[in-house]
Amino acid sequence: MEYVFKAENISFSYYTLQGEQNVLKDISFGIKQGEFVSIAGPSGCGKSTMLSIMAGLIKPQNGKTKTKDGLKTGYMLQQDYLFEWRSVFSNALLGAEIKGTITEETKEYAKSLFEKYGLTEFMYKKPSALSGGMRQRAALIRTLVPKPDILLLDEPFSALDYQNRLNVSREISSIIKKENKTAVMVTHDISEAISVSDRVIVFSKIPAVIKNEFEIDMPYDSLRRDNPKFTKYFNEIWKELQ
Ligand SMILES: Nc1ncnc2c1ncn2[C@@H]1O[C@H](COP(=O)(O)OP(=O)(O)OP(=O)(O)O)[C@@H](O)[C@H]1O
Ligand SMILES: [Mg+2]
Repeated sequence: MEYVFKAENISFSYYTLQGEQNVLKDISFGIKQGEFVSIAGPSGCGKSTMLSIMAGLIKPQNGKTKTKDGLKTGYMLQQDYLFEWRSVFSNALLGAEIKGTITEETKEYAKSLFEKYGLTEFMYKKPSALSGGMRQRAALIRTLVPKPDILLLDEPFSALDYQNRLNVSREISSIIKKENKTAVMVTHDISEAISVSDRVIVFSKIPAVIKNEFEIDMPYDSLRRDNPKFTKYFNEIWKELQ
């Protein structure tokens, strides 16, 4: 299988008035076409920083990233950044608007996603009229509208309550799988990572190194949580995170 993205020996520090904060230390991994990979790690260890580097928003001081030519990246930030002065629908079209690629087809596609995610009746409302979970779905729609090849998702389900979280994460991950998209998701929810991923990469506490990687060898369906292997993976990953 071919890698669509590679991180090679990435090290990164933030420099602030308080001094240098080492965040990532010699991180290397590859992501294959169609793979769903989760990055798990303790709060504040550098997961969001890693995604920003993957998206090309910040440059590492050491090491490099390689992306397959022509690959379109979609980045869903940890905070939803929906603009209050625009309707939810025009928020969803923002990316396409900035790129000057809004067409009738784009609008129709966006509308179909609103329908799919049960937000049709909120399309023309302001973001403040939506619940936390609805806002997250709207942010996900905005990420999907430009049809990215690789999705970078930062805690995409964190604003959902437990029940919705299970359903929405299952649904979204199966859509991503069905469309053969590649996805990298940051989460600190071990169960969520195991339920949706082909592989889980575990970061240590800050400065983060890769502590371990787990190939999740279970059929990709909704029954993963009932599979006896689920508990085994959970315990192994939990141990790594201690
Ligand atoms: N722009 C910044 N300037 C300075 N320090 C920062 C900046 N952004 C993040 N940091 C620090 O870098 C470290 C890693 O932050 P990051 O947001 O990548 O962690 P995270 O693993 O995503 O955390 P969480 O699980 O809480 O979302 C933290 O200690 C944070 O305080
Ligand atoms: Mg984060």
